Amino acid sequence: MPSIVVAGSINQDLVIRSPRIPVPGESVIGRDLSYVRGGKGANQAVACARLGATTHFIGRVGADPFGESLIAGLIENGVDTSMTRRDPHAPSGVAVITIDPSGENAIVVAPGANARCDACDIPAALPAGTGAVLCQLETSLPFVEAALRAGRQAGALTILDAAPAPSAPLSDPILSWVDLLTCNETEARVLLGMAPDEHTSDETLADALATLGPATLVLKLGERGGLAWRAGERVRVVPPRVHVVDTTGAGDAFTGALAVALSEGLDLADSLAFAVHAGSLACTVLGAQPSMPSRAQVEQSLAADPHA
Ligand code: RIB
Repeated sequence: MPSIVVAGSINQDLVIRSPRIPVPGESVIGRDLSYVRGGKGANQAVACARLGATTHFIGRVGADPFGESLIAGLIENGVDTSMTRRDPHAPSGVAVITIDPSGENAIVVAPGANARCDACDIPAALPAGTGAVLCQLETSLPFVEAALRAGRQAGALTILDAAPAPSAPLSDPILSWVDLLTCNETEARVLLGMAPDEHTSDETLADALATLGPATLVLKLGERGGLAWRAGERVRVVPPRVHVVDTTGAGDAFTGALAVALSEGLDLADSLAFAVHAGSLACTVLGAQPSMPSRAQVEQSLAADPHA
């Protein structure tokens, strides 16, 4: 089994199902508030662990009740938290999430302790047997860069999920440490210096992303599945049909599954299919971490898919 280090964010999600996502200035009466464990990094760590990988999480919570609950959630899922710090100088990260009846969401994050993650959180030596290092962009860039550099130096596969979209195109020092870059279409446009809503074909995005440096690129296409490419090889996978309840965390399930499959030695096409099915299954359950699928669920979904 591969060992995966996830260096990233961890949040307490405050989730309200609402008849619609409010427009600016509008108040909407929603349903009951749910407290759900989330954060892109922690979601991906839980995804990896449920899919069978030995998983270590590097990040920070506040020294508060949310922080204790978030760490307990990782431990319940079998994630190693020995490198997860309780920071007495900031509250735990919180995300306020509104979900509409179609399962679409709007998310605002108060980063709290996540913003204080720094290069010093990354140990001089990663755990023995680390096969992949997985980062996102919900923590500080020096932290992300240090984790990716440590992964490269340890001979691990380095993966950057460029979510949420960066405020500006990423600079070379970070991308030079990345073996596999993954993002959705909006994030891809921002990475390429385009307007987030500019109309672009998948192929245009793929060709442009290929110039950024990472050897392997994976575009998350939501309800259209995923597209992956590396030198001379381009594969597309369409998702299975599912009943969508909540898309929160679907991208994290996708990325965690991709990391697991590639570290197990699956080829690019099979890894992409594994990731697309994991992401689709995550849409069928309310909340981020509760929706991360098990290995058996993903394998069952793949077995039932006539395209797989
Ligand atoms: O990707 C979903 C996650 O984004 C949520 O769990 C929320 O915490 C935000 O980080």
